[in-house]
Amino acid sequence: MLSSNSRSFFLAALLLTGALPTTAQKTKPLDAAAIEQRITGLLQQMTLEEKVGQLNQYSGREVTGPASNRKTDLLNSIRSGQVGSMLNVKGVQDTRAIQAEALKSRLKIPLLFSLDVIHGYQTVFPIPLGEAASWDLAAIRESAHVAAREAAASGIHWTFAPMVDIGRDPRWGRVMEGAGEDTYLGAQIARARVLGFQGEKLGGTDAIMACAKHFAAYGAALAGRDYNVVDMSEQQLWEVYLPPFKAAADAGVATFMNSFNTLNGVPATGSSYLQRDILKGQWNYPGFVVSDWGSIAEMVPWGYARDKADAAQKALAAGSDMDMESDAYHTTLAQLVKSGQSDEKQLDDAVRRILRKKFELGLFEDPYKFSDLKREKKVLNDPQHRVAARDAARKSIVLLENRNNTLPLAQPRSIAVIGPLAKAKRDLAGSWIVLADTTQITSLHDGLSKRAGKNTQIRYAKGCEVEGSSRAGFAAAVETAKTADVVVLAVGETWDMSGEAKSRTDIRLPGVQEELFQALKATGKPIVVVLMAGRPLIFNTIADQADAVLYGWFPGSEGGTALADVLFGDYNPGGKLPSTFPRNMGQIPLNYQQYNTGRPVTKPGDIRYKSAYIDAPNTPRYAFGHGLSYTTFKYDALKIDKASLAAGQSAQVQLTVTNTGKVAGEEVVQLYLRDLVASVARPLKELKDFQKISLRPGETKTVTFTLTPDKLAFYNRQLQWAAEPGEFQLMLGSASDDIRLESRLTLLP
Ligand code: BGC
Repeated sequence: MLSSNSRSFFLAALLLTGALPTTAQKTKPLDAAAIEQRITGLLQQMTLEEKVGQLNQYSGREVTGPASNRKTDLLNSIRSGQVGSMLNVKGVQDTRAIQAEALKSRLKIPLLFSLDVIHGYQTVFPIPLGEAASWDLAAIRESAHVAAREAAASGIHWTFAPMVDIGRDPRWGRVMEGAGEDTYLGAQIARARVLGFQGEKLGGTDAIMACAKHFAAYGAALAGRDYNVVDMSEQQLWEVYLPPFKAAADAGVATFMNSFNTLNGVPATGSSYLQRDILKGQWNYPGFVVSDWGSIAEMVPWGYARDKADAAQKALAAGSDMDMESDAYHTTLAQLVKSGQSDEKQLDDAVRRILRKKFELGLFEDPYKFSDLKREKKVLNDPQHRVAARDAARKSIVLLENRNNTLPLAQPRSIAVIGPLAKAKRDLAGSWIVLADTTQITSLHDGLSKRAGKNTQIRYAKGCEVEGSSRAGFAAAVETAKTADVVVLAVGETWDMSGEAKSRTDIRLPGVQEELFQALKATGKPIVVVLMAGRPLIFNTIADQADAVLYGWFPGSEGGTALADVLFGDYNPGGKLPSTFPRNMGQIPLNYQQYNTGRPVTKPGDIRYKSAYIDAPNTPRYAFGHGLSYTTFKYDALKIDKASLAAGQSAQVQLTVTNTGKVAGEEVVQLYLRDLVASVARPLKELKDFQKISLRPGETKTVTFTLTPDKLAFYNRQLQWAAEPGEFQLMLGSASDDIRLESRLTLLP
């Protein structure tokens, strides 16, 4: 972790700038009881309108822009205590100026400044799906920490991240924002990201509040179309979609965001089942829930509310505490309370939850503590942040193919760097960037040129665009390829082909990029393909014929450097896919948690009256957990300390892993389980644990997993989380389709 600046430094700086507000008498953080007391005191003083005010959140683009009616209205609302939070106001100067307006209000309650800090603030880290491919929880936590450190130095209190939605449909553009398809991996990453953003405790100026979003099941939008309906069994909901949210809550995530989708007919924003029964009830969650952008008012077009007032009434009753940009609470809630249609106790509870966070952040003691010009400058220019971004990017790269050990490159005399993404910079940042100077992003071409040195010539040709049908650049690209020892071809999606509202029905590599590959392949030169995209793509020709394939996702500020590190073997790739890559679009949705069915395909090709397709296998192109290395690993000596477990007992599972190659490398050892017979049919494999280890050539390490009773459990038909006696299959491997060791285990009655 990077060191934080000392508190005395901030105070001194604030005093120097005259920024310390006259209200700042306390310097010691309040304890929980004192905070609740202060809130009770405030609630007693607040008018109904001021209470509703705390629930309103507006986007600040207009407030910091040129004069307009909207700007005047917003400033008036802020000055009269009608606004609790702003989003999209950033930078010390602007946040200071707007906070000063809030402090002109009667009760001087500070604003919360929020922003989508999704994968970096100024320094861009790989997109979250890419980081998930690292399976490296420490690196993921560090990435969130650096993002928080920069944002916090720039006046931000709160990020709308992490997105912990399980994403199993690559058509959905927002898979780029999550941790992939798997619940166990997703829950571990959710926890790492929350701790990274928030630190151990709120209140430090190198941390910001996190937000687990989108509650819930947004990732299951029908047909991968954004904002669509979600219909799913309770079992799926509890087993697959809720655990990452629970993990975030357990890690102390300060806020939740609800979602645009319906869940079994009810918009999540209006779902008291999700927000009151589960989150604030069963999970006893003390934070607050913000709506998604306009999602309260969207209950009207959904046909779930008559008008804004009806929507506001339903959202508050359902436990939505803060209204992002619907203006529904602001315009209707006070009247709803006066007329008895909304419950003032529920309003007070929402206000209390929001104020609690403002106290925990220390904003009542010092509303400007996140707005210090000197700190902003210093932190945003910290060179260590680029180091962390490079580390994260290297770890996120997945080696999908490496025929004839084409990689790492053996000091070629010349490299032809070809493709529409070879010199791209902006694309490498992916969707959701905040303050990044995209001219400062290292392209693949820059990274390779810098690394290659004097003895290797780099030649470039674009070949084609990402989209479109022009082949005009093919001939020059082929000529360039012919003059080189090896071709590095960079293809994929542009940055804005994934992200919010970027669902696609066709996830094959766009345009004529695969044709360009074929033209280059015809030269007979070895072709290394670097794919960059915000989702799993389909690229069968490349997968079949390329000499090597790297999946770089969108790797961020240091993407080109990290790719060069991997291409030259300065770093041995260890990334593993967090999502299944299908062979064709008809297989979607496809994930590794398949069921045996009553008619399994037991022999390849033997598909008559079997659960199969007649035109493609059931298997994916690349399986969940797949990722090669420049070395090889041998799995051996599996031991379980007991073959039979009494209820409540744990087992120790032990194995050895040896690096059998010539270079050091990292391996993610994956533990899968199958409950062979149960009261509900169980998947063929479920990831239950993993460990990322690094091994020198020839080195052997013993890996131990503890199989706790919890890992054998699932939601039964009564929706109880329970393990059932019987036999379990235990599988240890390097990918979900590369199981190296197996054993059985019995849970006794
Ligand atoms: C997205 C959220 C985001 C919010 C604020 C919405 O459209 O769904 O994920 O946090 O906008 O920008």
